[in-house]
Amino acid sequence: MTTVKIALLGFGTVGSSVYQTIQTRQSKFERLIGRKVEIVGVLIQNEAKHRDIAEGILVTSSFEELISIPEIDVIIEAINGAEPGAGYLHRALEKGIHVVTANKELLANQGNALRESADNGKARLKFEAAVAGGVPVIGTLQQLLQVNDISNVEAILNGTSNYILTEIATNRVSFQEALQSAQKLGYAEADPGNDIDGWDAFYKLMILSDLLLGQQPEWTQVARRGIRGITLADILAVESAGWRIKPVASFRLKEGKARLLVEPMAVPAGHPLYEVSGVDNAVFIHGDLAGNLKLQGPGAGALPTASAILEDFV
Ligand code: NDP
Ligand code: HSE
Repeated sequence: MTTVKIALLGFGTVGSSVYQTIQTRQSKFERLIGRKVEIVGVLIQNEAKHRDIAEGILVTSSFEELISIPEIDVIIEAINGAEPGAGYLHRALEKGIHVVTANKELLANQGNALRESADNGKARLKFEAAVAGGVPVIGTLQQLLQVNDISNVEAILNGTSNYILTEIATNRVSFQEALQSAQKLGYAEADPGNDIDGWDAFYKLMILSDLLLGQQPEWTQVARRGIRGITLADILAVESAGWRIKPVASFRLKEGKARLLVEPMAVPAGHPLYEVSGVDNAVFIHGDLAGNLKLQGPGAGALPTASAILEDFV
């Protein structure tokens, strides 16, 4: 049996979960793809940290050293920020190495350019985990777009923000306590300002825009507001009227003009996002043929994200 060789970029919440899942499900992957699956190298930043990685696997902070491993088939990328990851992925794709990434900031900045590198290298670029964690929104939209015009997507795309609002409302904890809990659970970005200032949902919306329109709007033309500053009093005031505050990201296409925004919004009972709580994300889609669809599930966290990555890998 031949072997698929994987290099893993990042060994944090997501990277370590991908690693463990591959190690513990070797035989399942072998059955699925008819080849052995081997992680041959792991890229990290801090070489001094102790990590549970089997002997014989190269652990390095040097991308040059990692990419020199002969015959890497797939790179799975889960590091933070657009750079240095984008440079690494361009090089890999141009070399014909397939890429699976969870990195929305990188894709929002470089998605179309990376697709060109993938075409040049005859490699594949997959990114289900970058939008809505374990919820299969990218695959679903790609499928729907084959025959549908999609004019409306209304979504919760940041698990941390939804979790914080839910925790404040149900357990009466402070904003700071709820954020710390989201960090402990592995939901938040390395810089949680990305979550609570709306950047994370914004990047995901830009990825959806690439998918839906083939392009992104001018970033400065998209309203972006996060949940920072929302208090228990705000939440209770809205709830007393029978509504809930949700961190919404939306895409609307009207008469050929796209309107995108990211903002906390009060939604009434019966709204498709009203019941979506905790770390769950949800994506409400209107297709002209399919009608209204809603996908919902864990939008962040180690295992749901590893699940989306490994579905792409397979
Ligand atoms: P973590 O902060 O837990 O882990 C990041 C990992 O990347 C660490 O191993 C870190 O190294 C490594 N790293 C960071 N910068 C560099 C660099 N310049 N060179 C080499 N290695 C680097 O982040 P997460 O695992 O939570 O997230 C990783 C990616 O996945 C992010 O892009 C995030 O947006 C995305 N994502 C996260 C989800 C989640 O639920 N957490 C869900 C979906 C996507 P070291 O260990 O040495 O510090
Ligand atoms: N920090 C992100 C979130 C991780 O909370 O949604 C998943 O992309």
